[in-house]
Amino acid sequence: MNYSIEITTVRQKLADLNAPPKPLEHTVFEERGAICDRHGMFKQRCRKMALRGKGIETRSECPACLTEKLTQLEQAEAGRGKHRKRSKIKTLMDNLNLPERFAYVTLDNYEPVNPYAARCLKLCNAYATHWPERLKRGGGLVMCGKPGTGKNHLALSIAKHVINEHQSSALFTTVLRIAREFKSTWRKNAECSEADVITRYTQPDLLIIDEVGIQFGSEAEKMILFEVINTRYESMKPTIIISNLALDELSRFIGERVIDRMNDGGGCTLAFTWESYRSRMAA
Ligand SMILES: Nc1ncnc2c1ncn2[C@@H]1O[C@H](COP(=O)(O)OP(=O)(O)O)[C@@H](O)[C@H]1O
Ligand SMILES: [Mg+2]
Ligand SMILES: [Zn+2]
Repeated sequence: MNYSIEITTVRQKLADLNAPPKPLEHTVFEERGAICDRHGMFKQRCRKMALRGKGIETRSECPACLTEKLTQLEQAEAGRGKHRKRSKIKTLMDNLNLPERFAYVTLDNYEPVNPYAARCLKLCNAYATHWPERLKRGGGLVMCGKPGTGKNHLALSIAKHVINEHQSSALFTTVLRIAREFKSTWRKNAECSEADVITRYTQPDLLIIDEVGIQFGSEAEKMILFEVINTRYESMKPTIIISNLALDELSRFIGERVIDRMNDGGGCTLAFTWESYRSRMAA
């Protein structure tokens, strides 16, 4: 059911009643008192058209009834808009591929356990806040450093933010998963091609690639990763790279040029240099 057509019709009826009747050929207007069951007396416009001896008569509706109907239609339309938005968010969340253990992470429940963590959190908050601009200019993030410091926590919180607040699409994956999908296209009778895989990783507004820098099986796997990063870079799509390597190691591994590219368009590199959050809790 399309409410917007009906809304336009009711609005037009009300606007007509607020203006003097437009003169029409073969037509006379008459105004008289009428009674609405619910609103009592109202001024009714009667339009009488005489055509080839036949008379057609139309009468205007109660303005209070029309106004009520308009309100109901507008509310129904707004409700449908909200429902549409909710179901879009649900689909985007399903497509994110969010690991269960990060179901509850947000930017708000990340603790700034030391000044460095506070700075990382601040930059991630700024990244999320300026998402529309990052999206336009393709600015990404490089998150590297010790395990357990909350890199995944922050990256997935950003993904949730862009989905919930902007209905952007986001995909979380790992280097191994990308490599596996690529290799599956090399089989005989493979269902999709390498280009299909690239497309799949180029489509989302935000791509998060985890576990960059773990030992690759081959040079070919490294090439695949670059292919994905470069294709996204060229189409100005933001990518977040997560690695447990220290920045200089990561730099050596994927090359400074790739890191620079990631930081183009207002992105930045965050180094997580402190001890694991869990070891701190245990201490
Ligand atoms: N500063 C922090 N505040 C709140 N939770 C944290 C923080 N750092 C890490 N965690 C939690 O510790 C666990 C490990 O963090 P994770 O994001 O997987 O780290 P990394 O990706 O850096 O290895 C997660 O459950 C995460 O929510
Ligand atoms: Mg991690
Ligand atoms: Zn009425």
